[in-house]
Amino acid sequence: MRRDCNGMVVAITGASAGIGRALAIELAGRGARLALAARRLELLEQLDRELGGGHLCIRADVATEQDCGYLVHACQARFGRIDTLVCNAGIGLLRSIGDTTAEEWRLLLAVNLAGTADCIRAALPLMRRQELRQGWRGQVVIVSSCLARRAVPDMGVYCATKAAQLALGESLRLEERANRIAVTTVHPVGTATEFDGAAERLSAQRIGRRSAGEAVQDPAVVAAAVSSAIIRPRPEVWPHRMSRWAFGLATLMPGLADLAMARFRRRIDPGAQGGNTVE
Ligand SMILES: NC(=O)c1ccc[n+]([C@@H]2O[C@H](COP(=O)([O-])OP(=O)(O)OC[C@H]3O[C@@H](n4cnc5c(N)ncnc54)[C@H](OP(=O)(O)O)[C@@H]3O)[C@@H](O)[C@H]2O)c1
Repeated sequence: MRRDCNGMVVAITGASAGIGRALAIELAGRGARLALAARRLELLEQLDRELGGGHLCIRADVATEQDCGYLVHACQARFGRIDTLVCNAGIGLLRSIGDTTAEEWRLLLAVNLAGTADCIRAALPLMRRQELRQGWRGQVVIVSSCLARRAVPDMGVYCATKAAQLALGESLRLEERANRIAVTTVHPVGTATEFDGAAERLSAQRIGRRSAGEAVQDPAVVAAAVSSAIIRPRPEVWPHRMSRWAFGLATLMPGLADLAMARFRRRIDPGAQGGNTVE
């Protein structure tokens, strides 16, 4: 059944930038009421003003369980329900697995994986109690990555959190089917957001120039694809259509995929530690 976004309540983590911000703009244009969450409250409030005001802005660090609970609580207090929870907040790390420190491991797991799980665990009791609206009590959207299906070198920890998000979504979809809670995982390719810059700063590394033909999408394209899966819930969203087949094939031919993915090692310039300029 096609759902009307007008009046729908959508909570988005990581709404201050990139894909989350683009999704907020897309959904506000369709009349959704939004709960916008991130650590940079001033950017959320600026976005709310750009959208005409009236949305809920919540300072929340998803690495903190209490903040995830507060996000759901504040959304319920303001709107009475959450139709769709979008677990989008995420960070990257440019580091080989052997060189990743225990602190870095824990940070990635806390933000990308525990942050997703804590928001979902907080929202589920509310969603299960909600009246059906256009066929569904609620929906969980998890913004994972195409790298959930096949990892690349020097981003192994990040890829592991994205694969775990996919696993979480697959289990949850079947567990909550009888409750009429839809679950959708999203698998973007490289997207022109703050993501690379944030990962470079966290890792004190620089990403080299993208190779010719490497797909980079506009966050508005990803947002439009996610929005269509909110209107008509489906298991997975692959905003770059070809990537779905390429990454599916990679799981069938791991040796060939190793050859293809090895080129990503050259993307990170080992001589550029500590903040040299991008090549
Ligand atoms: N860009 C890509 O190439 C790409 C490709 C595939 C998948 N993805 C996934 O898409 C999602 C969104 O990334 P993006 O590309 O839009 O990156 P982005 O532009 O860097 O945005 C990341 C968002 O997450 C928020 N965030 C980061 N850490 C947070 C924390 N601890 N608590 C709450 N919010 C936090 C940031 O807000 P604050 O800093 O204000 O907290 C920001 O709003 C991520 O899950 C990422 O893994 C991205």
